[in-house]
Order: sequence, then C-alpha cells, then structure tokens
Amino acid sequence: MKIGIIGGTGPEGRGLAVRWAAAGHHVVLGSRDAARASDAASRLGGAEGSVKGATNLEAARISDVVVLSVPFGAQTAVLTELSPQISGKIALSVVAPLAFVAGRARFAPPPTGSAAEDARLQVPAARWAAGFHTLPAGDLLRAGDPVDADVLLCGDDADAKRAAMTLAGDIRGVRAIDAGSLESARYLEAATALLININRIYKSHASFRITGLEKST
Ligand SMILES: NC(=O)c1ccc[n+]([C@@H]2O[C@H](COP(=O)([O-])OP(=O)(O)OC[C@H]3O[C@@H](n4cnc5c(N)ncnc54)[C@H](OP(=O)(O)O)[C@@H]3O)[C@@H](O)[C@H]2O)c1
Repeated sequence: MKIGIIGGTGPEGRGLAVRWAAAGHHVVLGSRDAARASDAASRLGGAEGSVKGATNLEAARISDVVVLSVPFGAQTAVLTELSPQISGKIALSVVAPLAFVAGRARFAPPPTGSAAEDARLQVPAARWAAGFHTLPAGDLLRAGDPVDADVLLCGDDADAKRAAMTLAGDIRGVRAIDAGSLESARYLEAATALLININRIYKSHASFRITGLEKST
C-alpha cells in the first residue's frame, strides 16, 4: 500500500512509518515543511519498503491510505486544507485528544465524542477508520523489537476498517482486533490517557491485550 502520514514527522508517525516500511509498504511522511519531512524520512532508513518525505498536501494526494497523525488542536486546520485530497480515500485517525493536567493525561474530547468522529464530520467524503492510539511511539520506534500488543480498530466503512486491520497486523507482534463502529473511537482515544497514566505510575511501556477471543472463534 502507499500510505501518506499527515504530521508524519512526529514520533507516532515516524514509528508507524518504520514498521509499515519494514512490512514492505511505501510510506510518505507528510509535514507542513517538505524539507523537514525529507530529513525525518532519511533518518529512518534501512527498511524493506520505502519512506519518503513530502508536504502534507502531496502525501495525501499520492497515497491510497491517508493516516491523520497530528495533535488534535491542529486537526480542523489540517483537514480544511486537505479535504479535497482525502475525499474518497481511506483515512485512518490515530489522533487522541488529550490534555495534561499536573502531569496526568486526561481525555479531552470534542462535542462530537471523539477526534475520529469530528474528522468524519469535517470530511464526510473520506472513508474513515480509527485505531493505533494505544501503540506508544517509543515502542514503534524500537524497530528491532516486536511490538507486544493488541491494536483495536474501529470504523463504519468496511473497506477502511479492513485496511486498518491489515496495516495493524503488518506490525510485527501486533494482533488486530475489530472494536466495532467509529463511535468506539471515543473509548480508544480515552484509553490512551489511561495507558499513559498507568505507564507513568509503573515507569513502564505497557499496552493492551484482550483475552478470551480465541475461545469464541
Ligand atoms: N506519541 C505517541 O506515543 C502517540 C501514541 C498514540 C497516539 N498518538 C496521537 O497521534 C498524534 C501524533 O502524535 P505525535 O506524538 O507524533 O504528535 P506531535 O509530535 O505533537 O505532532 C505530529 C506532527 O504534527 C505536526 N503539527 C504539529 N502542530 C501542528 C499544527 N498546529 N498544524 C499542523 N501540523 C502540526 C508536526 O509536523 P510538522 O511540523 O512537520 O508539520 C508534528 O511533527 C496525536 O494526535 C497523538 O495524540 C500519539
């Protein structure tokens, strides 16, 4: 797949890029600044697929799947600019709207319920799915180690959710789990705050595993 990551110069975007490139995908890191994107891409290197840099606009234009990986505060402006490029494409939100109060993470959702539902409201012509929120960038960037986690994906567009689940399963060590409709994004985004706070208490890199699924299949 050709994957464009909007805000791809950040740790989460770079972490996902390195894992997907290792699985053979072609990844374009997007940025407001093409030179910053190219620099970030060249520093990743060494993957089976490829990682290139471009403006966010170009990354969205040339990709089959567009991953939104910007701070929630930037989402509206970014989607306003990219709406024509994203429309009709599979769009995957990893955005978690969080506030940090006295060192603790707190879920700070918009009135629509979640960043993903807000994105869909803004660009309804895109085919939205959401997930990957509980995969910390630090774990993704340790490219030599498998990621020991389940990744929960949600969405109402069957093709978009299938693509998201495929991309999750392409990350070594990850099991992809269908978490239902896009409305579940509010729980996944909120769980990110919970996980950050657990990791702060335990000084750990913990993530989520869902148990008992094998018994039902
Ligand atoms: N970090 C994690 O472990 C993690 C885990 C799960 C989910 N997430 C979520 O994934 C998203 C990205 O996380 P991150 O840690 O990579 O975020 P980040 O470093 O704060 O931001 C990612 C990129 O967004 C761009 N950006 C920043 N402010 C912007 C603005 N006002 N307008 C347009 N673009 C802007 C920047 O790229 P340019 O300056 O190059 O344009 C930046 O490198 C966030 O929503 C976060 O909640 C993060």
